[in-house]
Amino acid sequence: MSYKNQIQHNRIPRHVAIIMDGNGRWAKRQGLARMFGHRQGVETVHTITEAAAALGIEYLTLYAFSTENWNRPKEEVDALMSLLVDTIAKETPTLMKNNVRLSTIGDLSRLPAAAQQKFRACMEETNSNTGLNLVIALSYSARWEIIQATKNIALAVQQGAMLVEDINEELISSYMTTAQMPDPDLLIRTSGELRISNFLLWQLAYSELYFTDCLWPEFTEEEFYHAIVDYQHRERRFGKTSEQIR
Ligand code: IPE
Ligand code: IPE
Ligand code: MG
Repeated sequence: MSYKNQIQHNRIPRHVAIIMDGNGRWAKRQGLARMFGHRQGVETVHTITEAAAALGIEYLTLYAFSTENWNRPKEEVDALMSLLVDTIAKETPTLMKNNVRLSTIGDLSRLPAAAQQKFRACMEETNSNTGLNLVIALSYSARWEIIQATKNIALAVQQGAMLVEDINEELISSYMTTAQMPDPDLLIRTSGELRISNFLLWQLAYSELYFTDCLWPEFTEEEFYHAIVDYQHRERRFGKTSEQIR
């Protein structure tokens, strides 16, 4: 039976986060330059966004470019930035068709002006869509985010807008870039790497983790459904005993 048919539609994760990894290795395997892998990876983004929207997932957060990725060779960074610009323009109609609302998390100010502008335009155009929230993590790292949140909280205390005693989990969450979003229920990482690579460290505290050897450019809808079916067979205990949550 296909994984699609095994999905329980009353238990769809609200928020799925994905570390889209393995573009370079996929290209290398075909004897191609790394950029071919990134271009093929965009096709996977298209497929998985449509699949997530159709399933009724509320939030899909995709790790597209990390703070650390700025340290890659300049040619690759430049090529990735122009790929971003082309992709946003090309994919906006798909987002409209699927009722998807686009947003971003990360330090967008580091992106070239053209990329910032394209993202702003797409966010505006998709702003009143009511289906899937597609969140692209760009120039994002969790430690960067935690530093920003800490500075802003410290500033609020310093200015007398809040007391040290007011600092709790809820308040810290509200200072994160994901303030309006539930924490991820499921984190998927492709390409066989078993690490978090500075993604959503605060928010992943109780997420279910799913790792697959599949490289991102070859990740299919069926692979995505497999991850969801796997998630649906987990018992999320949040520190309690199995008996308590039954
Ligand atoms: C993920 O693929 C995409 C980005 C980080 C931009 P990689 O480019 O990391 O591909 P590998 O891991 O080298 O195969
Ligand atoms: C993580 O992938 C970042 C993104 C997918 C955007 P990397 O390829 O940069 O991670 P490491 O270097 O293998 O940890
Ligand atoms: Mg990688």
